Amino acid sequence: MNRTFANIIIDIIAALLLLGMITTGYILRFPLPPSSNKTLSLWGYTRHQWGDGHFWISLGLLIILIIHLVLHWNWIVTVIGKRCHLLQTAHPSLIRSGILTGGIVICLMTIFAWTAENSVKEIAGPMRGKHLGHRGNADPVNESLTTLPIHNSIDQQAVGLWKDIYPIFENNCLSCHGPQKQLANFRVDRREDFFGSNGRSPLILPGQGAASPLIAIVSGIRKDMPMANVHKLSEQDVLKLKAWIDSGAEWTVKS
Ligand code: HEC
Repeated sequence: MNRTFANIIIDIIAALLLLGMITTGYILRFPLPPSSNKTLSLWGYTRHQWGDGHFWISLGLLIILIIHLVLHWNWIVTVIGKRCHLLQTAHPSLIRSGILTGGIVICLMTIFAWTAENSVKEIAGPMRGKHLGHRGNADPVNESLTTLPIHNSIDQQAVGLWKDIYPIFENNCLSCHGPQKQLANFRVDRREDFFGSNGRSPLILPGQGAASPLIAIVSGIRKDMPMANVHKLSEQDVLKLKAWIDSGAEWTVKS
């Protein structure tokens, strides 16, 4: 296969891949717009799958472009080298300039990939963290649990003790019921204090969120609670606690 023929083949493949990028890009922009992944499909493929295709086509195009550059390397080095006065000799080493150029490109790409990888941030949910540290001016909680939304938005499976539940105690209770102060001889950092030990009646009845005394305290239902407004949590936190108790209130050792 001579050089010209190879160039033509490469150019045809490049053109086809470019067409592939444009069409898949169009599909991702218009027929299957962002966030349609769960609801729409086109010719049997979802947005996610079209996105994958788009990525692989672009990778193919990148490889073809590199081959194209390699085939024209002699021309590139001499022309660009001369224009930019980079050449010291009349017959530069193609391999050396190739390695140098490749090295610079790979370095830049690595720096970019590393920066991007480390800049990813979780987007805060609408309620997340909103009430932390603002005890006392939490949302007004409904007077009765029967008026709490029955199909609340909290997925029981998704609520975890150390991720979602313990931070609520830590932020709202630990200062008075922890290692420093142990008001009412109750500590939120002792598992047994919730489940009824030393003759104390349990605060948590696993599987029965609505019937658990803890929920009555933090939702403001219990009228005789000392410092009631201190003990009242935001509706979102109450729902989280309730969902966790409903799912069995598993208290695992922190891993
Ligand atoms: C500003 C301090 C303070 C904070 C914060 C606080 N409490 Fe209390 N808590 C008290 C006081 C005061 C009492 C009453 C102590 C007594 O009866 O001697 C009490 C009592 C209790 C009791 C015992 C109630 C009873 O009589 O059966 C429980 C359970 C309790 N708190 C849970 C919590 C929980 C859960 C949190 C976090 C949502 C919390 N507390 C946050 C001060 C606080």
